[in-house]
Amino acid sequence: MPKPLRFIILTIVAAIIGSATMIYAQTNKNSLQKAFKADFLIGTAMNTAQIEESDQQSITLIPTEFNVVTPENIMKCEIIHPQWDKYNFDLADKLVAYGKKYGIKINAHNLIWHSQLPLFVKNIKNADSLKMFFENHITTIAARYDGKVYSWDIVNEALDEDGTLRKSIFLQKLGPDYIVEAFRLAQKAAPHTELYYNDYNIEDPKKRAGAIALIKKIQAAGVRIDGVGIQGHWHLGKVPLKNIEESIKEFSALGIKVMFTELDISVLPNPLAHNTADVNVQAQNSATLNPYPTGLPDSVKTEFTKAYTDLFKLFLQYKKVVSRITFWGVNDAQSWLNDWPIKGRTNYPLLFDRNAKPKEAYYKIIELAKQ
Ligand code: XIL
Repeated sequence: MPKPLRFIILTIVAAIIGSATMIYAQTNKNSLQKAFKADFLIGTAMNTAQIEESDQQSITLIPTEFNVVTPENIMKCEIIHPQWDKYNFDLADKLVAYGKKYGIKINAHNLIWHSQLPLFVKNIKNADSLKMFFENHITTIAARYDGKVYSWDIVNEALDEDGTLRKSIFLQKLGPDYIVEAFRLAQKAAPHTELYYNDYNIEDPKKRAGAIALIKKIQAAGVRIDGVGIQGHWHLGKVPLKNIEESIKEFSALGIKVMFTELDISVLPNPLAHNTADVNVQAQNSATLNPYPTGLPDSVKTEFTKAYTDLFKLFLQYKKVVSRITFWGVNDAQSWLNDWPIKGRTNYPLLFDRNAKPKEAYYKIIELAKQ
């Protein structure tokens, strides 16, 4: 068969499969996105294999269950901007095409973050060069995807646990106004994109106060901020419901959207003294720290179901101001919590198991939505 003809046939077949999946997704009443359609967006983080649709388990599952996605890694600085004058847009462009194909919104993640920075940025010594990188990075990437992505995590994890600004390279070299400046640059480059601040533990009162001060400062400067993302990396038995509820109230009182952006519930012991999602932290493995290598006991499964049910009851109670719930991954096999903060553990933090089968928690929260 001549090459151009083969290309046309393949394109038509791909389009048919794409629209069939979309129609299936839209008619499957028991999917998460269907169940919560009137309440909030439902999202997942996507890895490279999922974006490229080589992960068989996710091909229909993602467009069926979710109506918004966040790239787990491919839009982070070390991947999308590995050298001073080199950008890798391939995978981000594929993600945009993926979103278009299935009618799924994209929350781009992220522009300014102290982690997963390429070496060239870590090695920048003088403030002027860092400022130049900062402006180029934000402007180039935000402009390229303006109108193509729904929203951006403009600044990620800029706060320390006590609510003061993290002593990152950006704070040290650019000073405390760098966050306002990041939003100002993004607003200019991406006028059709929502702009968010995203962080972990900002439900905690001290850190929350820091986040509120930060958001107020951006607003007072006359710069646009559309929402705040509470990451939601929590532990079974320690999901801080009361703090979460207070945070929803206080953040929404600022007139911005409140989102849960990286939800997962670890069932494994926390080797660290406190809750964190700092990707730079590491701990040693041991049998006691990896208690369920072959499966989860029923008692833990029950507790897990209850934790998600309680959380979603709360989310539904505040559905007027909570605009999105995004899980940090589709299924347990894919979760970053198998390798962080300890490499090689077996964790069970998501609604789909290692075979991508929905767990009891999945059905329970869908039931809640129907009540
Ligand atoms: C994690 C990814 O899931 C991992 O694959 C990667 O190795 C490290 O980063 N907070 C964030 C996310 O904002 O970008 C992090 O994602 C998890 C913590």
